[in-house]
Amino acid sequence: MFLSQLDIFQVRNLESVRASCHPQANIIYGPNGSGKTSFLESIYMLGRGRSFRHRDLRVVVNNAADELVVSARLTRDSTGSNHQLGIKRTSKGRFEARVDGNSLQSAVQLVSELPLQLIDAHSFMLLEGGPLQRRQFLDWGVFHVEHGYTDVWRRFQKTLKQRNQLLRHGRIDEELLRVWTAELIPLCEQVTDFRRRYLSGLAEPLEKAVSAFDGLGQVSLEYYCGWDESRTLQEVYAHDQARDVVTRSTSHGAHRADIKIKVDGQPAADHLSRGQIKLLVYALKLAQASHYREKSGESCLFLLDDLPAELDYQHRGQVIAYLNHLGCQYFVTGVDKQDFECLVEKLPHKMFHMEHGATSVDETTGIESL
Ligand SMILES: Nc1ncnc2c1ncn2[C@@H]1O[C@H](COP(=O)(O)OP(=O)(O)OP(=O)(O)O)[C@@H](O)[C@H]1O
Ligand SMILES: [Mg+2]
Repeated sequence: MFLSQLDIFQVRNLESVRASCHPQANIIYGPNGSGKTSFLESIYMLGRGRSFRHRDLRVVVNNAADELVVSARLTRDSTGSNHQLGIKRTSKGRFEARVDGNSLQSAVQLVSELPLQLIDAHSFMLLEGGPLQRRQFLDWGVFHVEHGYTDVWRRFQKTLKQRNQLLRHGRIDEELLRVWTAELIPLCEQVTDFRRRYLSGLAEPLEKAVSAFDGLGQVSLEYYCGWDESRTLQEVYAHDQARDVVTRSTSHGAHRADIKIKVDGQPAADHLSRGQIKLLVYALKLAQASHYREKSGESCLFLLDDLPAELDYQHRGQVIAYLNHLGCQYFVTGVDKQDFECLVEKLPHKMFHMEHGATSVDETTGIESL
């Protein structure tokens, strides 16, 4: 799956940008503040319905405009079919998304149309941050390869919310609490089964991705399901009930899950350098892309913000080589053109020079093949 044409209107300083994209390597370079990250942000909004920089899309709309629009032509690897995707944040604050002219009901549909992975300066949080980051990483993968997951996950979230709402009431209806608990337990188990199955399938692609990078060691992923598994969930919830009433929330369950990421048997976040942590994040996300490709026959798209600032020269080359090996389309940004020239010298690619919100295709890199 790749984007062949991209149109961006009024996203931050990008007033109107049209880019014919390369099916694989797209490099965007230019000075600070020229709009490189905004270019990636536009693609991200098209695939996720939100920005990775700000919760409120009002901030992302160009200051002098009322609304933003991003649209793209997407080609699927498996069928060769073309589709038109579009998003709009209207002046009334409404968010609209369309595929081939049909309105989408939710951002979930958008996510399945355009599977994308972002790696930027905050991505080290996948290892150093809290469990939420790792659950999101995991759920991205499960969502894209297990078709029944969205429905189970939604029902789990809804039931958990209802149980928590009840716990927040002054006087608790114990009978109702039993009903929500009984409903939550099987959903908790189903979410756990989906995630476990996904993680065991990810082990092999991860081993391959890790071996493509020098200096990472033996990486392992271990799933913590969110409760003490030596007891049944019925026992856990019975034991927790008094505590849940006091804390007014559900102490244990799939919403407390985590992945223990280890390198040579040691917790990765405690033992790796910052650069190695970033490299491991690349390996994890590339492994997901590889697994996704195996399961669906489609590649996913990568957005790599300021790659030269993130990795040393050798590792940059290894990342680019792996992305090419997987057949993924990628959009990479950086300040200096020279940082990329050697990396993509022998690869078909396209370079975009970004200057104060406008792009121009760099004619000197004429080996791109569109
Ligand atoms: N809502 C907005 N309207 C207009 N301009 C904006 C808006 N929000 C941010 N900008 C400006 O957009 C420009 C592009 O920002 P962006 O983060 O994309 O630059 P960049 O090329 O990634 O820079 P760097 O190399 O420093 O990361 C900045 O100059 C910023 O001040
Ligand atoms: Mg930037």
